Amino acid sequence: MNTKSYDIIEHKYDVIVVGAGGAGLRATLGMAEKKLKTACITKVFPTRSHTVAAQGGISASLGNMGKDDWRWHMYDTVKGSDWLGDQDAIEYMCKNAAESIIELEHYGVPFSRTKEGKIYQRPFGGMTTEYGKGEPAQRTCAAADRTGHAILHTLYQQCLKADAEFFVEYFTIDLIKNDAGEFIGVLAYSLEEGTIHKFSANLVVLATGGYGRAYFSATSAHTCTGDGGGMALRADLALQDMEFVQFHPTGVYGSGCLITEGVRGEGGYLINKDGERFMERYAPSVKDLASRDVVSRAMTVEIREGRGCGEDGEYIHLVLSHLDADVIHKRLPGISETAKVFAGVDVTKEPIPVIPTVHYNMGGIPTNFHGEVLSKSGKSMKIVPGLMSIGEASCVSVHGANRLGSNSLLDLIVFGRAASIRASELIKSDDKKPDVPNKYIEKILDRFDKIRHSNGNLPTSKIRLDMQKTMQKHAAVFRTEDSLKEGVNYMHDIYNSFEDIGISDRSMIWNSDLVEALELDNLRSQALVTISAAYNRQESRGAHAREDYKERDDKKWMKHTLIELNGKTGKVKIDYSEVSKKTLTDDVEFFPPVKRVY
Ligand code: FUM
Repeated sequence: MNTKSYDIIEHKYDVIVVGAGGAGLRATLGMAEKKLKTACITKVFPTRSHTVAAQGGISASLGNMGKDDWRWHMYDTVKGSDWLGDQDAIEYMCKNAAESIIELEHYGVPFSRTKEGKIYQRPFGGMTTEYGKGEPAQRTCAAADRTGHAILHTLYQQCLKADAEFFVEYFTIDLIKNDAGEFIGVLAYSLEEGTIHKFSANLVVLATGGYGRAYFSATSAHTCTGDGGGMALRADLALQDMEFVQFHPTGVYGSGCLITEGVRGEGGYLINKDGERFMERYAPSVKDLASRDVVSRAMTVEIREGRGCGEDGEYIHLVLSHLDADVIHKRLPGISETAKVFAGVDVTKEPIPVIPTVHYNMGGIPTNFHGEVLSKSGKSMKIVPGLMSIGEASCVSVHGANRLGSNSLLDLIVFGRAASIRASELIKSDDKKPDVPNKYIEKILDRFDKIRHSNGNLPTSKIRLDMQKTMQKHAAVFRTEDSLKEGVNYMHDIYNSFEDIGISDRSMIWNSDLVEALELDNLRSQALVTISAAYNRQESRGAHAREDYKERDDKKWMKHTLIELNGKTGKVKIDYSEVSKKTLTDDVEFFPPVKRVY
């Protein structure tokens, strides 16, 4: 009996938010402002969450630097998503963008300013005017190239002001579900105290971010292990559109550190070894400011066809030395430092060596635009009681098959806010909190103990590296049937090899050996469903580029993938749900699919 081997500390809240990145903090703030008793559980100190690394900015059609309209933003997002995004959710996000950003400004986010004192906005890939027919839009609101940092610190301070409670350096082990299938809390492990905590709540919000670390080279922090997605799969929920993994065109060659798209927004450009601005051939209209999947593919082709830079032709050069020193100093100070430290490059004189690097997961836990988690029941998607998900952990789906740069920070803020509005409609602070009998946590503790006391032959680092190399090679920018099939088989074996894991630290205080193994458990399941879903989808759409099925196939594949995992056998089950073709209101009409060219 596990519950006897741990003294379990009990907590009761209206809402538990798991994760303290942009989405988690914005939701926590909204809930606390609405006087819901809210706790935010986070495995890192809130201002160390990965949102802190977001650089270039947050999109909204404020029109501060030229004419703009939320409908143009919506059109660009639908097109960027390669018509896999749900148009009602996209309308909600783009329409609510301006208000959400003005709120951020009032909360104190130190945005960069125009001469007139308005929020500064820069061009970003795929953002245009006049439904793609006009000039590139200046739509991305920036705080130099440290926008995520500015937002995260502001939100955390506001959360403290609103009396939200934080459980910092608590690792959430699993969701607690009752016999009726309702989510009623989470079980967490406090690293500092070495104690186990049972949180019961009327609502659990998963805001745990992406799982970029399933890959070998990623711009994501090492903490991006998709803990929410792992929990959802263990709770028998399906994940949505997991085959769509975004490669950011400009990760530093070698380290994978992000160099913001804002560099190209400010006038930087890519060249091959012949000094050619090759994007003119691939996207004649917007060139270096095409959407990320298009630029990443173009760079990969250049490298594959022998036009890469460097001794082994393995990277592309990003040039910004022609930019005004003042622009670099004021608008791009962060990446100047990153390039110096991680590539040894002085950006005022030399180009930065860059390659497409894993950056973002378009797929995740399926939700509606209120943040409520959905699962398929019969032919339709139904709300899962007691569970929400927001931010990169979720799939709402506004990014579809490919996300536009600067739409991620927007997604975090708009849907973090939406979740708090919905929560205040669903629950009141004097509502009875659910009882969580210990029988619901036995299985969770069994898994925890099995890993804590594991003494197999494989260290966490070995299984993780095998997974990361397999994903990097077999679920890459370009994909083929043979390579994916081989990758699925490898990932199955790697998934099952977790049975032979062995960790050496059995203690409870700050056991990072244990936490890394728990994180790997979350990563391996998402790696497996990602590559399986990629093998299954026989078309090219957005970031999913199949060399054996080069075209988008709307007849057969304009649908979301829903994938479940049997944790014991490693077998997946695939189903589908409809892409929403309705808009939310009559303010805008459905954008029918057309060929996607930039
Ligand atoms: O390039 C960047 O600054 C990244 C932005 C984003 O992913 O939205």
